[in-house]
Amino acid sequence: MLNEKNIFGFPLPRIDGPLKTTGTAPYAAEYHDPGMLFGHAFYATIASGRIVSIDTAKAEAYPGVVKVYTHKNRPDTASSDDAWKDEVAVPGHPLRPLENDRILYDGQPIALVIAESFEAARDAADLIQVAYEADEPHTNIEVEKAKSYVPPEARKEAFLPTDPRGDAEGAYEAAPFKIDAEYVQEGEHHNPMELFGTTVIRGEDGYLTVHDKTQGSQNSHDYVCGIFKLKPETVRVVNAYVGGAFGSGLRPKHQLFFAVMASLDLKRSVRVEMSRREMFYLTWRPATVQRMQVAADAEGRLMSVRHHAVQATSLYEDYQENVVNWSGLAYKCDNVKLSYELAKTTLSTPGDMRAPGAATGFLALESAIDELAYKVGMDPLEFRVKNFVTYDQNDDLKLTSKALDACYREGAKRFGWSKRSQEPGSMRDGHDLVGWGTATGVWEATLSPAEAKVRLFPDGKITVMAAASDIGTGTYTILAQIAAQNLGQTADRVSVLIGDSTMPKTAVEGGSWTAASSGSAVQAGCLEVKKTLLSLAQKMENSPLAGAEVEDLAIRDNRLVLDKNDQMGLAIADILGSNGMSSVEGHGKIAPDEEQAKEWVSYTHSAIFVEVKIDAELGVPRVTKIVSAIAAGKIINPKTARSQILGGVVMGLGMAMQEEGMIDHRTGRIMNHNLAEYHIPAHADVQDIEVIFVEEEDDKASPIGVKGLGEIGIVGVGAAVANAIFHATGTRHRHFPITIDKIM
Ligand code: MOS
Repeated sequence: MLNEKNIFGFPLPRIDGPLKTTGTAPYAAEYHDPGMLFGHAFYATIASGRIVSIDTAKAEAYPGVVKVYTHKNRPDTASSDDAWKDEVAVPGHPLRPLENDRILYDGQPIALVIAESFEAARDAADLIQVAYEADEPHTNIEVEKAKSYVPPEARKEAFLPTDPRGDAEGAYEAAPFKIDAEYVQEGEHHNPMELFGTTVIRGEDGYLTVHDKTQGSQNSHDYVCGIFKLKPETVRVVNAYVGGAFGSGLRPKHQLFFAVMASLDLKRSVRVEMSRREMFYLTWRPATVQRMQVAADAEGRLMSVRHHAVQATSLYEDYQENVVNWSGLAYKCDNVKLSYELAKTTLSTPGDMRAPGAATGFLALESAIDELAYKVGMDPLEFRVKNFVTYDQNDDLKLTSKALDACYREGAKRFGWSKRSQEPGSMRDGHDLVGWGTATGVWEATLSPAEAKVRLFPDGKITVMAAASDIGTGTYTILAQIAAQNLGQTADRVSVLIGDSTMPKTAVEGGSWTAASSGSAVQAGCLEVKKTLLSLAQKMENSPLAGAEVEDLAIRDNRLVLDKNDQMGLAIADILGSNGMSSVEGHGKIAPDEEQAKEWVSYTHSAIFVEVKIDAELGVPRVTKIVSAIAAGKIINPKTARSQILGGVVMGLGMAMQEEGMIDHRTGRIMNHNLAEYHIPAHADVQDIEVIFVEEEDDKASPIGVKGLGEIGIVGVGAAVANAIFHATGTRHRHFPITIDKIM
């Protein structure tokens, strides 16, 4: 299998798979150091207010306890300075643990116990006693939205709603068919399998090797150095294996702060790992209320789109995502008005969770589009095809590619959409009502600046180095494939060294940009290797490659040869040997093309088709079939790519039907902070899912033609499920998740 010649497009199994499935791959909290200390956080049990007193005497006296930290004895090595922020920070003042006596949210860490064993730290934490002065909690988005505001500082320019165009109000009033509806989506909580954990191994010279669960080793590195004022060369952050993340690991978490703080203070190695419960107090997908006003003419042409979203944030930061701009570019429409506001809540700052903004925005947009299609009396897929748009109308930019029409065609065919009858409640399977729904998804296809080093040895072995992370997405595997492809090798000859802050610069793994960015950097590194080999070869006497250009070259059987005539060439061992070298290295660098961006923009697209079956008497819903058709440029590895889409679809199912943080709004506390009560799809909830990748050529999205697909899989799934439920029952659900009690 590894001997496939053409490695692009080959479904290579993950090269890190055996390490993970045999428990061999070490995760951040699995590193050991003799004499290591263990930390356990203690967290607030009110949602808002201040600490009046905190008594740690009993905890300190507990056998094995070394030290208890609170805001009263926080080491002054730790800064709370706003001058320094992490790579993915949002406007506001980031949580600096133990900074002062203020409580900003339920579950805020307010003490850290350090002990000789994990058990001692955990048990001692139970002995801490706190007296609070509590303020009123504000956690209900449907109440707090009354005090919504336009964020004074944008997280990113691109997240600001684009300017209105045409006359959205007038066109709405004049149109014969319209929908004005409000959609509510409850907050969701990240639960990757691996808990957040950090192990700080302290060297004798004070050098810190920090194993951190993060989506960006260099972001964590810079955070540690920025907060604790450490010299960059005295800290190395490693995230060789990451047990899932999808946005939760973009920003540094409090366990990293705690582990480094204690290690510096006590001059020992320290590990701090979170509990599953603590995971619910972190970054979360914010609850959102959205109002859609959409209108169409009698032929089903979209005449007006207004989309207003209010999203929860914390008291201390203005977290923002792009929720509404999709509504101005998903379909052809000349009258558009978009607005986006935040509402303060006494909850932790929300964070990115798979397709942040789009997953939320498309819930509302794609539900409203379905509602409007029904108003007009058109098949919902036909309505979408009718309003197909071939450019980005928000910014008047050309699209580098858009094979969404192929997604519609191929997805519908595979699903059997043509057999659908339009009338709600008209399809049955024995005792079950059957509903078929569809939705469209869009996500951005971006490139982030990235570097990679590629080293080629005479025997054909290759080493690829980059700081890049693999959060389970397949980075190791696809980087091996790209290097192998470019240097005429098989992927099993490639060692991929990633997840290390000392490696060439890479952004956090997020935004679905890693394959396109790091992949292109590896390809650029391979080109540098070939260029160096060629110049070395041309210095040799009677070189058969004397007049050759690098574009004419290929590497075959460890020889640098002319692509068209591989008799003409030299063994790599001879090229290196005659120049006294034992290997050759290429340093690849890529960055987005700013000139191109003035004219072109790239998105990935999807069409989702969902079948639900609902027991006619009991109302029990089951999603029995999903077809997700994806256009994401070149697919390097159909196996890992399919896994991404499957994962996204399953997360979308959770968003549609199960996942919600349940807050007791009287106390402002999260009540279902465990995996028994926070429901996610179980195996029985996930039935037939089919993934289709349609052909899409794109020579501008990235140098390797890849668009990235970590996020697109979730976008639109929630709405497609809601639309299918409407088709089955005739009842429109606008409050997500659509749990069984709402259907009955
Ligand atoms: Mo992604 S939500 O940028 O990990």
